[in-house]
Formats: sequence, structure tokens, C-alpha cells
Amino acid sequence: MSLWHSYIIKAYFCTLILLMNTLLTTNTKTHDEKRQGEAFAPFSVDSNQYKKLFYIESYGCAMNFADSEVVASILQNNGFGATKNFEEADLIFVNTCSIREKAEATVRKRLTEFRRLKKSNPGMLVGVLGCMAERLKAKFIEEEKLVDMVVGPDAYRSLPGLIEEAETGQKAVNVLLSRDETYADIAPIRLNSNGVNAFVSIMRGCNNMCSFCVVPFTRGRERSRDANSIINECKTLFNDGYREVTLLGQNVDSYHWVRENTKENGEENAPVTFSLLLEKVALIDPLLRVRFSTSHPKDITDDVLFTIAKYDNICNYIHLPVQSGSSRVLQLMNRTYTREWYIAKVNRIREILPDAGISTDMITGFCTETEEDHQQSLSLMEYCKYDLAYMYFYSQRPGTLAARRFEDDIPEEIKKRRLQEMVDLHRRNTLQSMQRDVGKTCKVLVEGFSKKTQDDLQGRNDQNKVVVFPKGNFKKGDYVSIKITSCTSGTLIGMPCKDLFNL
Ligand code: SAM
Ligand code: SF4
Ligand code: F3S
Repeated sequence: MSLWHSYIIKAYFCTLILLMNTLLTTNTKTHDEKRQGEAFAPFSVDSNQYKKLFYIESYGCAMNFADSEVVASILQNNGFGATKNFEEADLIFVNTCSIREKAEATVRKRLTEFRRLKKSNPGMLVGVLGCMAERLKAKFIEEEKLVDMVVGPDAYRSLPGLIEEAETGQKAVNVLLSRDETYADIAPIRLNSNGVNAFVSIMRGCNNMCSFCVVPFTRGRERSRDANSIINECKTLFNDGYREVTLLGQNVDSYHWVRENTKENGEENAPVTFSLLLEKVALIDPLLRVRFSTSHPKDITDDVLFTIAKYDNICNYIHLPVQSGSSRVLQLMNRTYTREWYIAKVNRIREILPDAGISTDMITGFCTETEEDHQQSLSLMEYCKYDLAYMYFYSQRPGTLAARRFEDDIPEEIKKRRLQEMVDLHRRNTLQSMQRDVGKTCKVLVEGFSKKTQDDLQGRNDQNKVVVFPKGNFKKGDYVSIKITSCTSGTLIGMPCKDLFNL
């Protein structure tokens, strides 16, 4: 994870392929390469109004970006003002990601730039936040001498105290993970927002132990946020003009919240499950679109699928990471399902939601992966015909189950070759998926001007595909009925229809 104005427009609009450590295709996504290192400046700064100015830049997934909005809120409530210009900042924060080696290398490189700045401004304090802070803890301070504060994802409330401590010249560290922190009562400051789309955190942490993944170690145990605070945040967003919320969690389908020790209308409160939460958010207003990410295939239920089918404003789009098409590799990954089980889940989604867009995450070159396993991943992709896929080659993370149990035995060139084959296949599939939409009519939520020209607008349809069309009299936040006339591999191009959706 709000932040998202021009950057998210860029991300939504271009389906682009990057081959770096990470190779992926995208339009909207939870881990968006185009947004890495994005800085925030939510409010105009009168430097006299604040005791100090802070600069924050973020890496990693949408949840990390959403956390930066919580951090900004905590800092602002304690007399600090945000600046987009790091050279004028008294405090520099880098909200970091550990998911792959490349993500950490990017942050290390960025810190060397801040080191130069600190030489000319020794009073400036540098804080490392997020998953890399949690993974490396105090070791960060030993390795990176310029770092003054190391603060894990559950310790942001202690930031004002840690800043005070660091101001005395001491190094300040708080990396305690919590079993109940959800920042439910903190109203995030919507940074870099386009005023249409916002991300809303509904839970934190992860209890799954996928063997390749560092998240359970950096984010701690799974906990669900108070449902009422989620509904209230979504209502406020709607009243402020936002028209789309994306409910965020590493595994949203295991959302489960029970009000403690209270009775309402004389009855015990029933637990709020994810399908119930979706329904409550959808009922806020038919004009508020609802998306969610990420679904673990083992946890998504028919209840959730029927709730999506029941409400027009819940998008027909499911991000259902599979990671591999080989049951043998899935077992090593500890994903707790087989290839056949996953395929049955996709079939069920298509049965209940025939028009649903489905996307996935894939990893190539996981420990022991053979050519045959790789072919199984390709054939699964061919079967599922994903609308979007985020594809990565395996990057061993210290401390994970895979790092402790298995040898990282696939040479990097093979990992990358397999990744390229996967990307090529996916590119062909997405082009076909876009071509199938030509001639159809879809409802588009306008997010702003097209990337290429201010004569065109752009938005996304229910299935999360980017649609570009002539501006006419439409504006950001409108729903427009668009007849698709042509496409590229990343964008649908169309014309507004006369029969505007009657909402
Ligand atoms: N919770 C989500 C799920 O269950 O799929 C996604 C979590 S993770 C932030 C996003 C994606 O990063 C994963 O789905 C996986 O494909 C990829 N990933 C995680 N660890 C990785 C690693 N060690 N090497 C390469 N890719 C990795
Ligand atoms: Fe990582 Fe697996 Fe949790 Fe996703 S579900 S965050 S991949 S451990
Ligand atoms: Fe997200 Fe990266 Fe942490 S993907 S949860 S910021 S390791």
C-alpha cells in the first residue's frame, strides 16, 4: 500500500515487463517495481509550523506503503512535518523490504547516498523502518554506521520516543513484534493520493510458513484489525470522494475478528469473517468499489466467491498466487495444496464467477526444481490463462525454512532462463485475454488522465484491466461505460457508450 496519485496511475496504466532480479508483468499490484523508493509529501510544508521535517521513502509491497501512511500520521501528530525534498529534512526514514536479495541491495545502495548527505549535515538522523529493520535488527547499526534508528513494523508508535533518544546521540532500536498491534485507531495520512483509490490494511503478519518466504519473520503473527475501524476508514474515504478501496493483507481470506466481551442488541457478537467484512464494506455505498489482495488458495472459500457474485461493486478479480505448477515443488514450498487442488479452485472460481479476472505469483528455480517441474509450471499457466502474473526467480532468504533445509541448487542462469520462458508464455496469454475483450462493453472507474495525453482518460474495469478512452466530459471518480475497440498487451482502448451505467 492513500499514497497513490501519479505513481499509481503509471502503475495501473502500463503493463510493463521488467527483467531485473525480479521479472514481472503488472498493472496494479501489491509489489510494484515502479513505486520502489517513492517519497511522500502529503501536505504543503510551512517549516515554522513543525518542530522538524521528515522525509520518508518506501520499498516493497502495498502493505509497506500503507504503513508509511501510518508512520506519517504518527509523526505529524507529534509535531513533525513531511517534506519531499530529503536535502531539507531533519529526519530521513527508509521503509524497507526483505522479500528478495535485490530489494535489500536497493536499500543499501540508497543508504550510501544518504551517507554523503549526512557528512554535510551531521545533525540529520536516519531511520530504517520495515521488514529489513526487523530482519537485521541492531546488526543494521553495526553494518551501516550512518543509521541512527532501527524500527520494526510493529513499533511505529514508539517513533517519537526513539527520535528523542537518537537526538541525544544514542542509537535507538525497537524491533519488538506484537501479537495484537494493528494501528486500528490511527487514521493514515493519504500520501501521494489520486483521490480515487486507497489501500486499507485489514490485518497484519502471516501464520503461513511458505518455506521461501521471509514475511512471517519480519511481520510476525497474523492478527486481524477491528472490523468497525475498517468500515469507518472506508466510510471516511468514500465521504472524502474516494471510489475504490483495496483491502490488504498477506492472506485476507483468513481474516477473523471477534469483538471482545461485549454484547450488541442483547446477542453475542458473531465473528466477522472475510466474506462478512467484504459484504459490510460493499454495503457502504454501491458507488464504492471494493478490491482485495492477497488470497491464499487454501483459504479462499465459496462464501467469499458468492459474496463477490452478489455485489456489483465487489470487483470480479482474484489474486491467487500459485508459486509453482509442480505438486512436488509445492510441497517443498509448504504451500499446503497440490497442482490438482489449485486447478479445482480455479475451476470453482470460474464456475461461480465466470467473468472473474485471475492473477498469480510464480517463482522459478526454487530448490531442486527440474525441467519437468518447470514445464508443469508453464502448463499450469497455460491452463489458468492468468490475466496478470507477477513472476520472480527464487532468491534465498536467510533464516527461512528453505534456507535452513534445502540447498539453493539451481544456477542463476537457469532460474533466469526459466523465468524468461514463463514471461514469454504469459505475454502471449495476456495479449489473447485483451483481444477477447475487444467488442465488449465494460464499466470503468476513471482514475485520471492517460499517460500519453490529457485528451484521454484512463481507469480500470472490474477485472483490473487498464482502459483508455477519449476524455469527453468525464472526470476522475466517474464510472463510465466503455465499448472496447482495440487493445495492446497491457491496455484496452475504447469509446464511451451512450448508455451510461445507471448507478
Ligand atoms: N502473501 C502472498 C502469498 O501468499 O502469495 C504474497 C507474499 S510476497 C510479499 C509476494 C510474492 O513474492 C510471493 O507470492 C512470491 O511469489 C514472491 N516471493 C516471496 N519470497 C520470495 C523469494 N524468496 N524469492 C523469490 N520470490 C519470492
Ligand atoms: Fe509469505 Fe506464504 Fe505468508 Fe504469503 S502466505 S506472506 S508467501 S509465508
Ligand atoms: Fe512487504 Fe517486502 Fe515486507 S513484500 S511484507 S515489505 S518483506
